[in-house]
Amino acid sequence: MPEILDVIGRTPVVRLRNLTTPDEAQLIAKLENANPAGSLKDRPAWHIIEHAERTGRLRPGGTIIESSSGNFSIALAMIGASRGYRVVAVVDPKLTATNRGLLEAFGAEIIVVDEPDDSGSFHKTRIELANRLHRQTPGSFRPDQCFNPLNGQAHYRTTARELLAQTRHLAAVVCTVSTGGQLGGIARAVKERAPHVKVIGVDVHGSTVFGGRPHAYLTPGVGLSWTPANLADLSLVDEVYMVTDQDAFRACRTLVRSEGLLAGVSTGAALTVALTEAMQGKPRQQVAFLAADRGERYLATAFNDDWLKDHGLTTAADPEGLRRRARQLVPHSTRPADECANHLPDLAAELGSPTFVLARSEWR
Ligand SMILES: Cc1ncc(COP(=O)(O)O)c(C=O)c1O
Repeated sequence: MPEILDVIGRTPVVRLRNLTTPDEAQLIAKLENANPAGSLKDRPAWHIIEHAERTGRLRPGGTIIESSSGNFSIALAMIGASRGYRVVAVVDPKLTATNRGLLEAFGAEIIVVDEPDDSGSFHKTRIELANRLHRQTPGSFRPDQCFNPLNGQAHYRTTARELLAQTRHLAAVVCTVSTGGQLGGIARAVKERAPHVKVIGVDVHGSTVFGGRPHAYLTPGVGLSWTPANLADLSLVDEVYMVTDQDAFRACRTLVRSEGLLAGVSTGAALTVALTEAMQGKPRQQVAFLAADRGERYLATAFNDDWLKDHGLTTAADPEGLRRRARQLVPHSTRPADECANHLPDLAAELGSPTFVLARSEWR
């Protein structure tokens, strides 16, 4: 009989019925929200912790300290509960009541950072504090999802290989970006095993993973103010798109109303671009995206009309509106490695993160 952590991964894929027409490519969603703690982050969280246990960096009764206001710390909290580790989540004021409730349900401790960094977001101050706490806490371990290449390796070894085995006519795969784990890992596997498959990254306006001007945005789970180390080789990515908050929220609402698939806001961002690609594709071709987390996490926000109106967002959930928008979208870059890389190679050291390097032979 498997334990809870044994059922991470091997998620199903489903074909969408209604958002595309028969003369377009098929949309395929990989249901990462079927993971036990509810998101794609279960994979890297367990991959990193398992590696730390194996290499003696995390010992029985140890403490896991991580910067994450969302799915990654929820996944770590599940793992901590199952394996007997204390989990400390360093979060920011944008932590939703739902995510706080989930972290507390799993027994994690929460520390809130309230000082924004130079980009106006909290990523850097959160990472810095997590590193400081780690240095001060004997027996602690920092998974460091932003700088740890095992994050991408989890998706390289599992998510991407599963997706390639589960599809027969895959033409493109679309991933949103924050730490770059899913896009970096999937891109590497796809370009090694099925190089004809187009790899497309999606960021949200206001985030500067692919350059641009930083400003506040509402889409949770997506974005960073630099190109993450897990995307060190941007030449593996064929195209990147920028979507708006409106796009992401409208698409996740449309997805549940027209397909019965309840997923979060970042899934809407990916779906918008996957639809753009599918509408330009041919019948029988498949365009895949990840249903990244459970929609229940957004009942008080994306699925609450009053919240949407208060935040100036549409309450629309109509396939025609989504298709119109998808038809208008054009890539932000078709040569991201040359045109819009925003790497900050010294940042890990500046924030006090250990430098992780995986030798080529360790990727397999
Ligand atoms: C719901 C959701 N979607 C997308 C992402 C982005 O994935 P990655 O960090 O692998 O780039 C995250 C990351 O936290 C997430 O929680």
